Amino acid sequence: MKLFQRLLSLFTLIVFFLPVGCVVYPELVDKGPNAPKSERCGDCHRDIYNEWKDSPHARSFVSDAFKEETNEYRYKFCIGCHAPETIFTNEKIEPRSVNQTEGVNCNSCHLDDCELSGPTPARGPHPIKEKNLFYKTSEMCGKCHVGTLKSWQESGIVEGKKTCQDCHMPVIKRKLIQDDPWQKIYPKREGKQHLFSFQPFLKENENPIKMSFVKVIRSECNVEGILELENTDVPHSVPTGDYGYREIVVTIELQDKTGRIVDFKTESLFVELKTALQYKEKRTIPFYFNCKEGAETIKAKMVRTSFCKDRNILLTEASYKL
Ligand code: HEC
Ligand code: HEC
Ligand code: HEC
Ligand code: HEC
Ligand code: HEC
Repeated sequence: MKLFQRLLSLFTLIVFFLPVGCVVYPELVDKGPNAPKSERCGDCHRDIYNEWKDSPHARSFVSDAFKEETNEYRYKFCIGCHAPETIFTNEKIEPRSVNQTEGVNCNSCHLDDCELSGPTPARGPHPIKEKNLFYKTSEMCGKCHVGTLKSWQESGIVEGKKTCQDCHMPVIKRKLIQDDPWQKIYPKREGKQHLFSFQPFLKENENPIKMSFVKVIRSECNVEGILELENTDVPHSVPTGDYGYREIVVTIELQDKTGRIVDFKTESLFVELKTALQYKEKRTIPFYFNCKEGAETIKAKMVRTSFCKDRNILLTEASYKL
């Protein structure tokens, strides 16, 4: 059996160096009822698969919010972008008929006609349309992220303006595949993590959203001042998005020396209310706290939150010693 498997691998290895159409692994480029599961891609592209399966794209169909807002999937019109067959269409994006729970899966973004398309010069065991530079553009993401792309485009031609992929798919050097025998013959190369989130680049100093206290005055026992927010580097509004619940809460807290909150003020940013922070925009939030015993520090934070306030992601914070 082992020998047979080895021979089979060898055979595919040889075949893959021949020019092939949808011949080897034809099941990977199937559409309709036989479309492959992303797990199948994960047999070889293990790291990418693991990143994707924890990403928001993998949840886009099963998410409670989507289920609720489509009235238990009754609004068919919504499903195209949330469980698409492929984005390579000139018409409206069509929903997949199978594996819908996978949401935006590998083939949603990579199946172009009967080939798996991507930006790198690659030769693989399956049909590949290589060096497709569309993948490097914000327009690719904008096939579904319509409002965010518009906001990105309207932020003007600024030198060094980053694309969606620059921030939401961080660069990594590794092999594209982690499966034998293939990985033996492939070198490491520059690839992109399929995280589709913004956690990894929120390092100090690199934070694209700045927050600071300007002009804090303590008169008698009152404290007043101004908090300044600036979107220095996110080339879309903060928050962004066309659907779902998108709120960013800015909290200013007055704390005593044990860290106990003695007073606070909050302000929310919403796309719908046109209070989102645009690219390069500076915003000031004045605050005033009445006499409070033992006030020592003012702390501010900016958090992306969910409707039930059960999911909170810290975007940036600042503090000021009185
Ligand atoms: C049998 C192993 C195997 C399976 C299964 C597999 N791939 Fe690949 N794939 C490869 C190899 C090998 C390469 C080339 C890697 C290299 O050049 O470093 C590759 C390359 C690619 C590329 C790069 C194209 C480019 O030019 O940038 C994409 C995209 C891709 N595969 C997508 C998929 C998708 C989607 C699936 C599932 C439907 C899948 N692959 C299943 C082995 C596999
Ligand atoms: C086929 C449609 C489609 C394409 C193409 C697409 N997305 Fe998405 N994206 C979605 C959907 C649908 C969601 C909502 C998932 C959810 O939160 O349930 C989403 C969510 C996200 C989120 C998280 C939003 C949140 O609320 O947490 C980020 C970040 C993101 N996408 C980035 C990208 C980037 C970057 C690209 C381009 C490389 C891209 N997307 C391409 C459909 C798409
Ligand atoms: C400079 C880095 C950067 C670039 C470029 C960028 N983003 Fe973002 N993106 C962020 C940050 C930081 C956040 C978190 C703040 C927020 O929610 O608005 C974010 C948030 C998002 C969200 C909402 C996630 C959430 O739940 O808050 C989506 C969707 C998104 N980006 C999509 C895109 C798309 C599509 C593009 C390209 C048109 C893009 N981004 C370009 C940094 C970037
Ligand atoms: C939302 C769209 C989207 C989804 C879903 C997606 N990819 Fe990608 N993929 C991209 C983009 C965009 C790039 C190129 C990014 C760049 O180079 O800037 C890419 C690049 C790749 C590459 C080329 C090498 C690399 O690391 O850049 C491979 C291989 C690949 N994807 C495989 C997969 C597999 C396997 C899955 C499913 C587990 C998957 N992709 C899911 C958009 C997607
Ligand atoms: C053009 C593509 C597209 C269509 C059509 C679409 N969506 Fe979405 N949806 C997205 C994208 C992209 C996101 C993530 C970021 C955003 O809100 O723009 C998203 C996010 C969501 C979210 C938030 C998910 C979460 O977990 O936070 C909900 C809810 C949602 N969509 C519901 C719907 C409903 C209901 C419809 C039909 C009326 C619909 N969508 C149609 C692209 C689409």
